[in-house]
Amino acid sequence: MKNMVLVIGANGQLGSVLVKALRRTFGVKNVISSDVYCKNKSEDIFEVIDATDMTRIQDVVIKYKVTQIYHLAAILSAKGEENPLATWQVNMKTLFNVLEVARKNNLDKVFFPSSIAVFGQGAPAENTPNNVSLDPTTVYGISKVAGENWCNYYFNKYGLDVRSIRYPGIVGYQSLPGGGTTDYAVDIFHKAVLNKKFQCFLKKDTTLPMLFIDDAIRATLEIMSVPKTDISVRTSYNLSGISFSPEEVVHEIRKLYPDFEVTYQPDFRQEIAATWPKSIDDDKARKDWGWKPQYSLEEIAKIMIKKLRNYYHTDIRSLESLSV
Ligand code: SER
Repeated sequence: MKNMVLVIGANGQLGSVLVKALRRTFGVKNVISSDVYCKNKSEDIFEVIDATDMTRIQDVVIKYKVTQIYHLAAILSAKGEENPLATWQVNMKTLFNVLEVARKNNLDKVFFPSSIAVFGQGAPAENTPNNVSLDPTTVYGISKVAGENWCNYYFNKYGLDVRSIRYPGIVGYQSLPGGGTTDYAVDIFHKAVLNKKFQCFLKKDTTLPMLFIDDAIRATLEIMSVPKTDISVRTSYNLSGISFSPEEVVHEIRKLYPDFEVTYQPDFRQEIAATWPKSIDDDKARKDWGWKPQYSLEEIAKIMIKKLRNYYHTDIRSLESLSV
């Protein structure tokens, strides 16, 4: 049967890049991008969807004969703390709507992104395994734990093929994150390339699990492409890329911008980060669907700087030395 893919929350950091990758895989006409407003007027197929409205999702699914949904809409960890109950409503209602539409229309597959935010202090901070006690401290984390369990429930009760990854912080040049605790790791590169000072909201030695955008996209496509029987984890898979702290990023950036200035002013996001793992054991993803990250911090820094320089049209130093 033909694949027809709907991406909900396509304006976000992951969605905007994932839509392009899905279009390369399935063909431009077979991927529908959607969000609460249209960001890119030249978008190939775009539908306005507020995912809190189940009827709207249903209408688009019927209109295009959708077979797969990637449900990326959510309010992230830091932003979510501004209004915990509203965050819970949005994150859970949109997931229930997607799961119900998928069940009622017998969709082939659903993708649900989870996060390292599911972990709290009850989990070991180093090499955090897939199966540990989950005691998140943010409403975002609570909604992801609940969401994972609901995905597992829909698989067990209705046979709905929902697949999920616990993403670390995602570092990419094509899009900006919004409202997360790991956002500094993108913002810092923009400031460096623009020759601005950077004020970091985390302490300099706060190590967190991170993942380059290309690895994140590849992981998403890989988990969704393997046979259903290969997926043994129906809550969500741990996924590891690299781990680094702000001072380690600064070290890489100063190789090209020796005068880059950074100050540290930890805020409430430091407390969130302090409850998250430093590194992740992703053994199950490696065994079940062959996951292997490709990018080191050094490579990520080089690519981020090169791409952002192109984006901002700066040419302060020779790019030749980057050799990426
Ligand atoms: N990047 C996310 C956040 O910081 C984690 O999933 O909220």
